[in-house]
Amino acid sequence: MSKSKILIFGGTGYLGTYLVKASASAGHPTFVYVRPVKPQHDSNKLNLLEEFQSMGVTIFQGEVNEHDKLVEVLRRVDIVIVTFGVPSYLEQLKIIRAMEEAGNIKRFIPSEFGNEVDRISPLPPFQECCDKKKAVRRAAEESGIPYTFVSANTFGAYFVNFLLRPYDEKSQKVTIYGTGEAKFVCNYEKDIAEYTVRVATDPRTENGLVIYRLPKNIITQLDLISRWEKKTERTMEKTYIPEEEIIKLSQSFPSENAVGNSIVHSIFVKGEQMNYELKEDDLDAVELYPDYKYTSVDELLDIFMVDPPKPGVAALE
Ligand SMILES: NC(=O)c1ccc[n+]([C@@H]2O[C@H](COP(=O)([O-])OP(=O)(O)OC[C@H]3O[C@@H](n4cnc5c(N)ncnc54)[C@H](OP(=O)(O)O)[C@@H]3O)[C@@H](O)[C@H]2O)c1
Repeated sequence: MSKSKILIFGGTGYLGTYLVKASASAGHPTFVYVRPVKPQHDSNKLNLLEEFQSMGVTIFQGEVNEHDKLVEVLRRVDIVIVTFGVPSYLEQLKIIRAMEEAGNIKRFIPSEFGNEVDRISPLPPFQECCDKKKAVRRAAEESGIPYTFVSANTFGAYFVNFLLRPYDEKSQKVTIYGTGEAKFVCNYEKDIAEYTVRVATDPRTENGLVIYRLPKNIITQLDLISRWEKKTERTMEKTYIPEEEIIKLSQSFPSENAVGNSIVHSIFVKGEQMNYELKEDDLDAVELYPDYKYTSVDELLDIFMVDPPKPGVAALE
């Protein structure tokens, strides 16, 4: 397989770190554009950047506002993947403008990696985040830069950490949102990153939408809990939060809680990841890459039994 120069924005973040490693491990010349690091404040970030460098990754430091610098960096690469978090989604419009000027980018994957934003109608705080992702989609479509949109559904390790709190050995408590019976797709971040690197370099995915609906990972909260109980040989104390209460919490302050609760409502109460049929044009990761052996939910829980992946940024706390 030919190698592409892949530039990742947000590479020091939760998903970004998996992506940088996946890209470098696949042998693609990998580049990361990060905000300038202050050595006295950002020792974790510095250590991570050193780890990236030891894998052969090239680091550029700069702001997305530095248009000329950005254009110059973009001219040195082929593919751009962004993994900015919620507050910075619209900053991607600056990257799109710079890519338009650079004129050489063969593929752009914006920061999405969640629910299929054009097909869900969540509660207002989450809808607001989705609207920003949609605005970036529309700008990408209008730019003429080849793009791919990725709907990765639920981050497996992130949500196993959030739902089961496996790092807290003493905790036997689990909260169930709604009835616990809505289906969602629980994909391990390492696989999301590996698929995304394949998608980014695949001519079949140009100007398309790829959905990561991995069959072994379609599960309900109740299934997930019962599998965990079997593995740990512990019974968890279950508290149900009814839908009306989650809706009320989604109207709460601070607004991060409102966003978190409206995400939980969309995924675990309404089941918005599985309540639509795939369209003819939708691309399915498993069909595109039948040889890739992804991690099943069961295997992910086994990983948690031995060496739990770190929790993500506390967007849902
Ligand atoms: N499906 C799911 O279950 C799920 C779960 C979580 C997230 N997500 C999605 O995954 C994507 C990535 O989220 P994440 O949680 O990995 O994000 P994250 O951990 O917050 O990381 C964001 C990264 O973007 C960088 N960044 C943010 N604003 C920037 C700016 N203005 N200029 C330059 N760099 C900037 C941050 O750099 P600094 O280190 O300099 O701040 C950091 O490296 C998002 O689209 C999010 O919605 C999906």
